[in-house]
Amino acid sequence: MRRPLIAGNWKMNLNHLEAIAVTQKLAYSLEERDFDAVDVAIFPPFTDLRSVQTLVDGDRLRISYGAQDVSPEKSGAFTGDISASMLKKLDCTYVIVGHSERRAIHGESDELLNRKLRAVLNSEMHPIFCIGEALEIRESGQHVSYVVDQLRNGLKGLHKPDLKKIIFAYEPVWAIGTGKTATPEDAQEVCAAIRKELIKIGSEEISQNARILYGGSVKSANIVEIMKQADVDGALVGGASLEPEEFARICKFHRVI
Ligand code: PGA
Repeated sequence: MRRPLIAGNWKMNLNHLEAIAVTQKLAYSLEERDFDAVDVAIFPPFTDLRSVQTLVDGDRLRISYGAQDVSPEKSGAFTGDISASMLKKLDCTYVIVGHSERRAIHGESDELLNRKLRAVLNSEMHPIFCIGEALEIRESGQHVSYVVDQLRNGLKGLHKPDLKKIIFAYEPVWAIGTGKTATPEDAQEVCAAIRKELIKIGSEEISQNARILYGGSVKSANIVEIMKQADVDGALVGGASLEPEEFARICKFHRVI
């Protein structure tokens, strides 16, 4: 059985004081039975991570956290960048790699993302590797092969023990922040294709155990139908994760399935 993961990507929102308030509210909006059933993770901006760490440790919250991006380099003259070892030192469990906003706004290539995946894995954290097609590709009907290519290129040369540690997120670009959610069937189609490809890239076991998330306008009103899909193991939530009560409602999807 794959354990569900609900991940909240705050993007460039909430300063460190707001981060403390939102994390506290989230923790108190959830019960032990929710944490027993679902892994809950948040992805604050870099400047919030130390405050979130202190709160999670001090209050022993069952919330994990990670970073939204990482440098592929170990250390040195890379002004403005943050290394994987710095994130590990803050007890980050996860790092998002290849979010479509980084691919589009910062021109991140599959080759660069492959190096970022390696950096995260070398520091013993779990990458959440994002893949997904833009609207033109969806409309041309090429979405499955496009996403599978992104997967293959990103994972090039990675060995099986590393593949086991990666979490995958299918995020169709046209559904991010637009209010247009993919239908549960759209999400299932691509998540199933990712799982099938993971047999070839890794093994049957790696494929069966891989957690594959869906992301793109997820909210409490659509999470249940999305989570009912056989190959969807969780969600990467943007906008709706900024509102702790709404994010908590999303994390409670398991109560009704
Ligand atoms: P959204 O963002 O939920 O606001 O659509 C999802 C994401 O970008 O991870």
